[in-house]
Amino acid sequence: MTEAPQRTDVKVDIDRAMAHETHSLRSGLGLMALQRKTELIEYDCKEADCGICLFRVISGEENLSPVTKKEADFLQAMRCDPNERLACQCRVFGDVKIRIEGDPED
Ligand code: FES
Repeated sequence: MTEAPQRTDVKVDIDRAMAHETHSLRSGLGLMALQRKTELIEYDCKEADCGICLFRVISGEENLSPVTKKEADFLQAMRCDPNERLACQCRVFGDVKIRIEGDPED
């Protein structure tokens, strides 16, 4: 009898303006799975078109899914820094710390 694979949770630290939140997320899920838990990450198109979910990786870059073609096209077109990613395109496989610029919209 084989054992079911263990579900592991990862830690996502989010800084935005004066707010700091830490959330648990099941490894392998997208950052969008935190949508009900935090308003610090905002989404609109969810298809790497608008950039509202842009964030900077502070640590744990290696724990994010590889940049998708669509995401790469957007990041290149916007001349983003190498440590910037789109939350709507990222899955998380280990602890990460991220920062989002600007105040969240009301
Ligand atoms: S929600 Fe539009 S690029 Fe991520």
